[in-house]
Amino acid sequence: MRILLIGSGAREHALAYSLKSDSSVSELHVAPGNPGINKYAIAHEVNPNDPESVSRLAQSIDADLVVIGPEAPLVAGVADAVRALGIPCFGPSKAAAQIEGSKSFAKEIMASASVPTAQSFTCTTREEIEQALDAFGPIYVVKNDGLAAGKGVVVTEDRNVALNHALDCGKVVIEEYLDGPEISLFGISDGTHVIGMEPAQDFKRVFDNDEGPNTGGMGAYSPLPWAPKDIVEKTEREVLLPTIKELAARNMPFIGLLYAGLAVTSHGIRVIEFNARFGDPETEALLPRLKTPLAQLLLAAATGNLSTHPPLEWSPHSAVTVVLASEGYPENPRTGRMIEGITDRPGAIVFHAGTKETSGDLVSHGGRVLAITGIGSDLEIARSNSYAALSKISLAGGHYRKDIALKASINEKGA
Ligand code: AMP
Ligand code: GLY
Repeated sequence: MRILLIGSGAREHALAYSLKSDSSVSELHVAPGNPGINKYAIAHEVNPNDPESVSRLAQSIDADLVVIGPEAPLVAGVADAVRALGIPCFGPSKAAAQIEGSKSFAKEIMASASVPTAQSFTCTTREEIEQALDAFGPIYVVKNDGLAAGKGVVVTEDRNVALNHALDCGKVVIEEYLDGPEISLFGISDGTHVIGMEPAQDFKRVFDNDEGPNTGGMGAYSPLPWAPKDIVEKTEREVLLPTIKELAARNMPFIGLLYAGLAVTSHGIRVIEFNARFGDPETEALLPRLKTPLAQLLLAAATGNLSTHPPLEWSPHSAVTVVLASEGYPENPRTGRMIEGITDRPGAIVFHAGTKETSGDLVSHGGRVLAITGIGSDLEIARSNSYAALSKISLAGGHYRKDIALKASINEKGA
């Protein structure tokens, strides 16, 4: 089959890596791609967020399947334009992608579908905001209603900080603070059925020990030795399926990847957020462990055929992904710096995020530059494979967390 992949990050590199290893894939195209992805895909300089350009490209290459990586094309309606031409697309419609694009929409769906989540109020005036803050008390959780590239959420004990963020947002969701570790669990859906993938955990803060500002994600690992054994089934039953059914009942079937960000609390799982696409960097840690051919799985979802799809098969190996970020990331990343030392090593895969080729040199071209996934028989070995590959790579001013999957790897041995 011929596939068109949309996007240009490390998540898309991981998708391309797995799609390419599915023997049913004869040709892989990408738009716009990056130097890592372009090694095994035909790259097209097409605006990924323009429905018309993407659907035209899909038609011109006679694509059997379009796979959309990031949220921006989904929210822009790229999947709708592709499907309107009769081409199967893995990625939800503009309407269904609101589950990520609008926090208040997500809350409304969860309330209708009885999906467990934090209690919340959607506010627009100062009076409503202050009432909501005082109803919950500290720790305050304040979320911008729209897409904010990971910067829309403030979690603070300081009422003034919470209030000022809320006033800056316009429409804002204020909610109960959820205690407990967070996990990311992805459901592959064809609009009616959903298959849960194994969970992963990501590291959102920029510095070790979860210090510093939130980022798009500094690392991830999978599997989670500490997670409840029934977490996948439970999330399918309590979260993914009811949400998919609710969206279908509203005539906005969700065909694509439903990302549940969950808090594992003492009262059970609670949804912190939904996304309408694969998580980044969780995907870089998950897909190298997936043994099920990815292209056939995504095609089954895109064509409404998941009910007959066999259960997913996973490698028992562990995967740990560490992100190499630019100096100044996340506030003010410095780009255009040389990257050297990327080599193939056993047990490690280097996924490109923000990179670019300039006169034969590889240079940084974004806040997150590379995502390095180490694979091993346990988390400790996977970690050391990732950090060993990273230690050979040079990027002036580049920084990364040293503690990705550290606690889980110690507990895995000790418990
Ligand atoms: P979101 O964009 O909704 O994922 O929020 C970003 C981060 O804020 C999450 O990954 C959590 O760490 C934190 N967060 C969001 N909502 C809550 C909540 N209700 N309770 C505690 N932490 C939260
Ligand atoms: N890893 C967080 C996200 O993809 O939104």
